[in-house]
Amino acid sequence: MAKVALVTGSSRGIGKATALRLAKEGYDIVINYARSKKAALETAGEIEALGRKVLVVKANVGDVEKIKGMFEEIDQVFDRLDILVSNAASGVQRPIMELEESHWNWTMNINSKALLFCAQEAAKRMEKNGGGKIVSISSLGAIRYLENYTTVGVSKAAVEALTRYLAVELSEKNIVVNAVSGGAVDTEALKSFPNREELLAEARAKTPAGKMVEIDDIVDTVMFLVSEKASMIRGQTIIVDGGISLLV
Ligand SMILES: NC(=O)c1ccc[n+]([C@@H]2O[C@H](COP(=O)([O-])OP(=O)(O)OC[C@H]3O[C@@H](n4cnc5c(N)ncnc54)[C@H](OP(=O)(O)O)[C@@H]3O)[C@@H](O)[C@H]2O)c1
Repeated sequence: MAKVALVTGSSRGIGKATALRLAKEGYDIVINYARSKKAALETAGEIEALGRKVLVVKANVGDVEKIKGMFEEIDQVFDRLDILVSNAASGVQRPIMELEESHWNWTMNINSKALLFCAQEAAKRMEKNGGGKIVSISSLGAIRYLENYTTVGVSKAAVEALTRYLAVELSEKNIVVNAVSGGAVDTEALKSFPNREELLAEARAKTPAGKMVEIDDIVDTVMFLVSEKASMIRGQTIIVDGGISLLV
C-alpha cells in the first residue's frame, strides 16, 4: 500500500502545493481544511488526477476534539500514516495595545496547540509502521519583529520550540521532526495583512537573493526534510528567505 501524508491547511497556498508535490512523489494524501470547501475539493481533484488516493477532512485544528475526529476519519480510509506537515495557520494582525484575549487564544490554538495534538495522534499511527516524518511550518516573525504580527510571531516561536521537544521525544519511535520557516510568500494569507503592499515591496527590493521567496522554495525544503537524506537533521528550523533575515 502507498505511503500516506497528511497536510493540515491544504485547501490552498503552501499546504496545497505541498500536498500536490507529495502526491507526485507517490504518497496518498489527506487534505485538511477549515472553511474553504470548494478549494479543498479542487485540490483533491488535482490529486486524484495524479492517480493518488485522497481523503478530504474538514476540521478546525485549533480544537483538539476536531483533531481527534480527523484522525478517526483517516483511520477509516487509510491503515497507515507516514508524514504530517503541520501547515494550517491563522492569526489576528493588530498592534499590541489592540490585542484581546480571544485574538491570542485563536492564534495560539490554531498555530501552536495544533502541532502538539496533531503530532501526538500522528505519532501513534506512524510508530505502527516503524516511524515517520513531521514538518511544521514557521515564519520569520518567530525570531524577529514584524509589524502587527505579535500573536502569530509568538505562536510560531512556540512552533519552533515544540519542534525541538517533539524531535527528541519522538526519536525513539523513529519519527524525524523539523520545521521550515519562510520569508514572505505571496499567498492569500497576506491579504489579511494591513501592510501587505509595503511588506511585498520590501521583500522584492531587499531580499539578497534578488527575488521573493516562492511557494516552491518552501515545498522543496519540506520535501528534503521528509526524505531519507535528512534523517540526521532533528528539531531544526530551516530558514528559507533568500537571506532577508540576515539584514539588520
Ligand atoms: N505566506 C507567507 O508569507 C508565509 C511565510 C512564512 C510562513 N508561512 C506559513 O506557511 C503556512 C501556510 O501559509 P499560506 O500562506 O499558504 O496560508 P493560506 O494561503 O492562508 O492558507 C492557509 C491554509 O490553512 C487552512 N486553515 C486556516 N485555519 C485553519 C484551521 N483552523 N484548521 C484547519 N485549516 C485551517 C486554510 O484553509 P481554510 O481556508 O479552509 O480555512 C488554508 O488551507 C502557514 O503556517 C504560514 O504561517 C507563510
